[in-house]
Amino acid sequence: MCGIVGYVGPRQAVDVVVSGLKRLEYRGYDSAGVAIVTADGLDTRKKAGKLANLQTIIAGDPMSLSSTGIGHTRWATHGGPTDANAHPHVSDDGTVAVIHNGIIENFAELREELTNLGIQLNSETDTEVVAHLLQIVLPSVDGDLSEAMRRVCRRLSGAFTLVAVVAEHPDVVVAARRNSPLVVGRGEGENFLASDVSAFIEYTRNAIELGQDQVVCITPSDITITDFDGNPAATVEFEVTWDAAAAERGGYELFMLKEIAEQPKAVADTLLGRMKDNRLNLDELRISEQELRNIKKIVVIACGTAYHAGMIAKYAIEHWTRIPCEVELASEFRYRDPIVSSETLVIAISQSGETMDTIMALRHAKDQGAKVLAICNTRGATIPRDSDAVLYTNAGPEIAVASTKAFLTQVVAAYLVGLYLAQVHGTKYADEISDVLAQLADMPRRIDLVLDTTEHVRKIAHELRDAKSVLFIGRHVGYPVALEGALKLKELAYMHAEGFAAGELKHGPIALLEEGMPVIVVVPPKTGRDVLHEKIVSNIQEVRARGARTIVIAEEGDESVVPYANDIIRIPESPTLLQPLLATIPLQILACAMATAKGYDVDMPRNLAKSVTVE
Ligand code: AGP
Repeated sequence: MCGIVGYVGPRQAVDVVVSGLKRLEYRGYDSAGVAIVTADGLDTRKKAGKLANLQTIIAGDPMSLSSTGIGHTRWATHGGPTDANAHPHVSDDGTVAVIHNGIIENFAELREELTNLGIQLNSETDTEVVAHLLQIVLPSVDGDLSEAMRRVCRRLSGAFTLVAVVAEHPDVVVAARRNSPLVVGRGEGENFLASDVSAFIEYTRNAIELGQDQVVCITPSDITITDFDGNPAATVEFEVTWDAAAAERGGYELFMLKEIAEQPKAVADTLLGRMKDNRLNLDELRISEQELRNIKKIVVIACGTAYHAGMIAKYAIEHWTRIPCEVELASEFRYRDPIVSSETLVIAISQSGETMDTIMALRHAKDQGAKVLAICNTRGATIPRDSDAVLYTNAGPEIAVASTKAFLTQVVAAYLVGLYLAQVHGTKYADEISDVLAQLADMPRRIDLVLDTTEHVRKIAHELRDAKSVLFIGRHVGYPVALEGALKLKELAYMHAEGFAAGELKHGPIALLEEGMPVIVVVPPKTGRDVLHEKIVSNIQEVRARGARTIVIAEEGDESVVPYANDIIRIPESPTLLQPLLATIPLQILACAMATAKGYDVDMPRNLAKSVTVE
């Protein structure tokens, strides 16, 4: 998820673009850049790090006067956060500049095609190929940037928002959209493009949302929108009623709500282009297949929510690979003298990639000869840099302290690693792997269905806001989901909440039950292991019989829980191992709603930090 701005009009383009990027910096902040069209051609500045680094560069070496410009703040998906990988990317002959948000799935073959044409590629990014392709196409369309963009887009697969300028046309900015967001701002004698309206609402509140597979050309006086074949496209104009701060949250009250809503796309982007011909496309791999075949033990190390993702992954990894998989709190791992060798694969899961407990644990594992594979959401962070391999979760920046979309994508990424190990170890046939991938590919749709049922959860949250304590129970992969639900409530509503393996209740915790105490139950699919389902229904009866208020998360059509549930939160059917991707969402919403009802700061809860960089 990157920040994109385009401008054409009477103002100084560099000023408009940089101020727009400032508003979009929450969308990505590992590098930034600007390109403007001047009488002498393109003038470009770009720099790794936060936008302030770019501003320093520009202050030291001012850009020429120009009415046309584009700018970008990056959240890396292909290639680390370096100057060379920062956008804009410029064509071989320096006449075309491009910025991009998204993932071009077929960029590897396009890179090869360009290399074979003798074009020098200067970055590791997928974006750069578009700049060169536009340069190649432009002469054949008489320099028409819109038509060139349409022809190039028809060759791309994946998710992309592209914005380009060309030296030959100083008053034109052209953009294309597939999946990643792009809005047009209509001004008086000036027009704007941006990832979201916060970049231009200080100039205009008249906006146009671009649709799927559309190309837009803006000049100071005109806005022309077509489909990828050049046919005029229908547009939806609207007036922006948000203030700038709300606009940064995409109109959501909270970053957490925005990030909960982004989960279908985050999961889809984490799957995008990852398993080709049943081979996992690891982002950086410094472990050979032979070394992976020698793995006799897997240890997952992580903290907090990432640890819960690892607990869920354990069930799938052991089921698919038949390799023992331990899950360890990173803060405990290195102090217990763990048994680790060159036949151990350590999987370090971390959203920020800077969690010191996890960094120290993985370094200890490497000292013991283990291979380390990172699952991380932040390119170029310490944990992926210190690891032998990395699979990035493409969730985009997660701003709210409480982890939501990162969690779902960590589970998905861990499943991909499990499937890959099963393939390398020959414990799963190709068609079995394809079946699981097909099920995973359908999860964004089902997550969307869960997101449509939030009102019922909010009503329950309001009723529970004064509860003294809330218990969460689950079985199998539902047990880590229960732990995650409890953690969300602790960190957001500052309440006592505890998660248990449902089978453990009778070994002590059931003594906690008092009349009316809320017990939230994650019920496994009926179509899974029936014995698990029967046992959890018995657990619901046990706690209900002792006065608990039972709030049950169960699949559509599961009627067996009805007699014992005070409230039922329905989720779509899914395979047992994939249910956490659905059952967790009501718990995220419940905790967020309870904290909101208490008037707490949901995005920045007390005592917490987004990344815990101390041990
Ligand atoms: C989860 O909501 C918390 N923000 C916290 O538990 C977090 O998951 C943990 O600190 C690990 O952070 P990491 O994923 O960045 O390593």
